[in-house]
Amino acid sequence: MKATAIAPSNIAFIKYWGKKDEKLRIPENGSISVNLSNLNTTTTVEFSSQLIHDSVTINDMMDRKQGERVITHLNRIRKLTNIKLYTRVVSKNNFPASSGLASSASSFAALTLAGSSAAGLNLSEKELSILARLGSGSACRSIPDGYVEWLDGKTSETSYALSIFPPDYWDINIIVVVVSEESKDISTTEGHALTAKNHFMPIRIAMMNEKIKQIKKFIKEKKFPQFGDLVEKEALELHAIALTSNPPIIYWQPATVSIMKLVQTLRKEGLAVYFTIDAGPNICLICEKKNVKKLTGRLKNIYGIKNTIVNYPSVGARLIKRHLF
Ligand code: DP6
Repeated sequence: MKATAIAPSNIAFIKYWGKKDEKLRIPENGSISVNLSNLNTTTTVEFSSQLIHDSVTINDMMDRKQGERVITHLNRIRKLTNIKLYTRVVSKNNFPASSGLASSASSFAALTLAGSSAAGLNLSEKELSILARLGSGSACRSIPDGYVEWLDGKTSETSYALSIFPPDYWDINIIVVVVSEESKDISTTEGHALTAKNHFMPIRIAMMNEKIKQIKKFIKEKKFPQFGDLVEKEALELHAIALTSNPPIIYWQPATVSIMKLVQTLRKEGLAVYFTIDAGPNICLICEKKNVKKLTGRLKNIYGIKNTIVNYPSVGARLIKRHLF
């Protein structure tokens, strides 16, 4: 009873920030994302009568806090099947553990697919997405292929993600620029919780359905400047909410702001590039494929960049035959 899955990370164009139900991870609003080709997690899960306890190894290390979240997720799978066996989980990211890059989306998507399959379940894409969401909200968007919509829903059964366009529908590139390798002071989960008392949240929520409609139209019609402009403003809005939370959350580092400024300068020079930023200091630059070289060239002069990872839109979670143990 062993299975291995690989799942991509994803970046949201319209973001998930705030929950209607914290425990079930039902978001305040729907969101739109794309899967990233070069940031992924591979996970092997085995249920075995030979094991006397659960064991979780992530990037060759046993982290207690992370391990507990993984075991809670395995318990959800055990509950679906009535399996009482212990498990061994080995998981590896293809990006460095200390790179400061969020891995909960790819980790919980890979764990959901490998775990449910090792348990003998043959879940549909929708069921996998719902289950992944319970582990980490954004993980539900790493199950389907390419460009993805997470329907916010009112109940657990109606809150899941589906593919809206295949990965090759539109040739955009997402360059993840790593500016900090430190873990953040306030976790994403805590950041979500702080939105509940933010006075600007009702205004944000009221506009989300319209934003989702617009971004889907811009992707469908491949209108890059309109698309990029909306993505960038949406990211700034998330950070406006974070900055005005209590306590305030300042996710940016000086290099994050330098790159935001560079993006504005490059646009003035005629290079169509836009940024988005999740709950951390690292920044994602979005451009059309033809402009990647020029853009990465310009990033070389910026102080504080530790690493850049060029991605294209990718498929979602997949089972693979090569196990990690
Ligand atoms: C800023 O999915 O990491 O990246 O459900 O608490 O695990 P939990 O949160 P998580 O939140 C991601 C927030 C975000 C925006 C997004 O990906 O949509």
